[in-house]
Amino acid sequence: MKKNFSSTNPLILGIDTSCDETSASVVRGVKVLSNVMPSQIEFHSKYGGVVPSLAKLAHTERIDNVVKEALKRARVTMEQIDAVAVTYGPGLAIALEVGLKKAKELAEKFNKPLIAINHMEGHLLSSFVEPNGKKNILVKDLMHDYKIKFKKGSAIGVLVSGGHTEIILVKDFFNYQKIGETEDDACGECLDKCARMLGLGYPGGPVISKLAKENKKNIQYTILNKNQSRIVTLKNINTGRTYQLPVPMAFSPNLNFSYSGLKTAFSSLVSSLSVTKDEIFDLCSIIEIAAFEEVRLKVFKAFEKYSPFELWLGGGVVANAHLKSVLRKVSGRIKVKVPYSNKLTGDNASMIALAGALRFNSFVNSHNPKVGIFTKEYEKIDREPNLSL
Ligand code: KG4
Ligand code: ZN
Repeated sequence: MKKNFSSTNPLILGIDTSCDETSASVVRGVKVLSNVMPSQIEFHSKYGGVVPSLAKLAHTERIDNVVKEALKRARVTMEQIDAVAVTYGPGLAIALEVGLKKAKELAEKFNKPLIAINHMEGHLLSSFVEPNGKKNILVKDLMHDYKIKFKKGSAIGVLVSGGHTEIILVKDFFNYQKIGETEDDACGECLDKCARMLGLGYPGGPVISKLAKENKKNIQYTILNKNQSRIVTLKNINTGRTYQLPVPMAFSPNLNFSYSGLKTAFSSLVSSLSVTKDEIFDLCSIIEIAAFEEVRLKVFKAFEKYSPFELWLGGGVVANAHLKSVLRKVSGRIKVKVPYSNKLTGDNASMIALAGALRFNSFVNSHNPKVGIFTKEYEKIDREPNLSL
């Protein structure tokens, strides 16, 4: 491949069908030209969660039009695209297949390189996505700036979504080490299940977030250590009612998470109450506080151990204002990079396209095979060890 303008700021079509969003996006480097993502929530909400076979059906019905629309809104043709980036995993296998098939078909038909992207790398890099097009940062310059930063140290990525809760040590772009992960449920999954216990529908995370925010003025809370447990005690200052929940993994020596015990403790708390309307608000407040205290403790520990130069946040739960505020306090004077909007914290194809742009640039300029560009060897993509995260 010859170096040209595209290699310093490539035009990438990104596709993500990992869960319940059929998403396609075109980026020019870090700048979003289009991000099309019709939601499937209406199909899944009546079942209280994502139904894989329904997700596959909806992806199959929509993928052609979503890609067409993404190209149309970006005012580009497939011929102009430099490469196609697609999520190969993790996610629902039968949903991922739909995006992979479409991406392979386009790459083959238009003779474009295909870039396989790990969905979690997309979330990790999502705070670099520029949706409003005001800043004109070239991928080449961005990577050059960070080359200097990475020479001095590492960044820490915190990914909190419906399927994952992870802390990543970022030693360089494409050089990641997972230093913490959940041993059972993910944080978002726990919030969704707790919301379901309260009859708040699916996905429950945003509803818990909304009700907890509205309830902020009515509550006071403490988080204290008692006999090798860390306990959140919340009091509603109007009703005088108090509630308690334990913070899991508070004394574990590693950076891992656990959320299934918190879900069980929440279930016991709910069944011990008659659960009036006010109590639903208080329960939303306490589950949010307990769940994010665990994230705070682990990120604090990671900061102590690795002294990062930056904190990168990603994943659907990062839309939560309380979580962002807790992590901003941990990071102090260290810069926190947060996705530009809630459209970019949750699943979207712009983050996949951006990861593709960085890998494409790196490949063209260094021919580093580790970045994972595949032209004809499409079948290799889901087995490539260098791409796992
Ligand atoms: O990243 P994402 O869109 O999908 C996965 O890759 O899992 O994350 C979805 C998760 C769901 O659990 C959802 O309830 C949660 O993110 N979520 C939130 C908020 N918005 C979405 N959780 C708490 N507060 C929010 N504002
Ligand atoms: Zn995701």
